[in-house]
Amino acid sequence: MSAPNKSYDPVEVEALKPEEIERMRDEAVAAFAAAGDLDALAHAKTAHTGGTSPLALANREIGALPPHAKAAAGKLVGQARGAVSKALAARQAELEAERDARVLVEEAVDVTLPYDRTPAGARHPLTTLMERVADVFVSMGYEVAEGPEVEAEWFNFDALNFVPDHPARQMQDTFFVQGTTPEGTAVTTGDESGVVLRTHTSPVQARTLIDREPPVYVVCPGRVYRTDELDATHTPVFHQIELLAVDEGLTMADLKGTLDHMVQALFGADMKTRLRPNFFPFTEPSAEMDMLCYVCRGESVGNPDRPCRTCGSEGWIELGGCGMVNPKVLTACGVDPEKYSGFAFGFGIERMLMFRHNVEDMRDMVEGDVRFTRPFGMEI
Ligand code: DAH
Repeated sequence: MSAPNKSYDPVEVEALKPEEIERMRDEAVAAFAAAGDLDALAHAKTAHTGGTSPLALANREIGALPPHAKAAAGKLVGQARGAVSKALAARQAELEAERDARVLVEEAVDVTLPYDRTPAGARHPLTTLMERVADVFVSMGYEVAEGPEVEAEWFNFDALNFVPDHPARQMQDTFFVQGTTPEGTAVTTGDESGVVLRTHTSPVQARTLIDREPPVYVVCPGRVYRTDELDATHTPVFHQIELLAVDEGLTMADLKGTLDHMVQALFGADMKTRLRPNFFPFTEPSAEMDMLCYVCRGESVGNPDRPCRTCGSEGWIELGGCGMVNPKVLTACGVDPEKYSGFAFGFGIERMLMFRHNVEDMRDMVEGDVRFTRPFGMEI
């Protein structure tokens, strides 16, 4: 800044000469006009309006003028700066509009281009079949209940009346996660239970009975684990559906009617089931449930001219286990067996998918090849 200027002499304060101020203004306006894009304009803005721009420096010189000259010089500089910022704003708006118009063209999306080059995924047939089966029961008023896959040994075995040395508890059959039970020796209680990957969906029966007051009508779909090698008919991870009904006065006739309804809903109105005696610790009496062969409808039996590959001309296909809930299970879960009775049923979904759709190798279900899943349709 120049030294205080007692006798005002604009000639000596070069920067404040009107022609100088005009020149600075015109240069600034010209620089803005010349800026071809917003970056260039930002540079011009710093050069012509920043703290060290000619007009800002001229403005500082005003302080050094004698009082009577300050107003006129201030007006001059102020007007010039006003004109400069107006020109800047106008150019800024112009360049922004240009940029926006250009972006609209450059980044335009051609909505007519094909959009489905990446095929949509779809749900696995095991999932859709499991839901379809569960839906049959939901439509009868059952609720869906679920339990954990990492399960207390007590729920998986003890509550279901498996004796301590039952072979299913052994490590060749069951994945123990924690508190491994030495084969067939331990008796576990609720407090000191080991932890297993559940080997069936039946523990959800016990969980449900402990959680709710009868009447209980639940269907329990889920994933289960056993120490099997993966081959054409086994997989260490598979799916089951469990059914449990506990109410006053339920009998085996209710179980049979429910099973018949299920196979009719899934395989056709002329389907039926038959029960063969079997043993499960958690049902008494227990039965193996067969359904009429859905291919030959039983007509291959004793008819060598019409052999059936699906059922081996037996006329029936084994579907799962069932029975009346063992009173010991009801007692273990706090339900009075004098007042209530119940039935249960459980079966594997992989097996049902195999015979319902002629799948010959279970490995196809886990390998994730779309050539396997595509023919089942695209449920998303
Ligand atoms: N939990 C049995 C299994 O995995 C299947 C089963 C049998 C379930 C009889 C039941 C039943 O509910 O009543 O082999």
